[in-house]
Amino acid sequence: MKFFVDTADVAAIRELHELGMVDGVTTNPSLILKSGRNILEVTKEICSIVDGPVSAEVVALEAEAMIAEGLKLAEIAPNIAIKLPLTWDGLKACKHLTDKGHMVNVTLCFSANQALLAAKAGATFISPFIGRLDDINLDGMELIRDIREIYDNYDFKTQILSASVRTVNHVREAALAGSDVMTAPPEVIRKLAQHPLTDAGLAQFMKDWEKTGQKII
Ligand code: E4P
Repeated sequence: MKFFVDTADVAAIRELHELGMVDGVTTNPSLILKSGRNILEVTKEICSIVDGPVSAEVVALEAEAMIAEGLKLAEIAPNIAIKLPLTWDGLKACKHLTDKGHMVNVTLCFSANQALLAAKAGATFISPFIGRLDDINLDGMELIRDIREIYDNYDFKTQILSASVRTVNHVREAALAGSDVMTAPPEVIRKLAQHPLTDAGLAQFMKDWEKTGQKII
């Protein structure tokens, strides 16, 4: 499963990228707001760090204007994935932009039928939002499993990009469900390394090592 980092925080992207943990980046208007930076500038800087797909989201609501914004965002770098909302206009823009050879990430997907439409419109990525479904007492992970089954049934090439990932269990379950990609905030990716038995085991080893009185260097 590829790891995308869900942030416009350049320092966090750089840190995770140095560890080889970043296969791509996703941003959205809320994350751009949080960064306090201009969308074109910050996205350009992110693309200078990361070779993989960097999703930048349009804010227009009509297909023609979405296409114009998408083309402007795509000028930033060749690895831009134009992010479009899963609306009828978003699907129209998706078809147009993918036909022209651009990567498209269709976002705000909350049902298997929406994912089916995005695949038929040629989306490169479909972003089902796990956490936001869990928030309203639905099962976000069930959606990932459903989309996997449907895409496999018909051999759709659209990649499932599990989004709105809030917990380490979301990451594990998305990987088990066969999600192609997951995008998570930097803090969730860092938490994947944590285990209380690792901490306890390390503390014990350090205690015993001190008693040996030895040094390696
Ligand atoms: C990613 O593409 C999405 O915009 C993001 O994962 C949404 O996450 P949230 O529901 O935690 O805001």
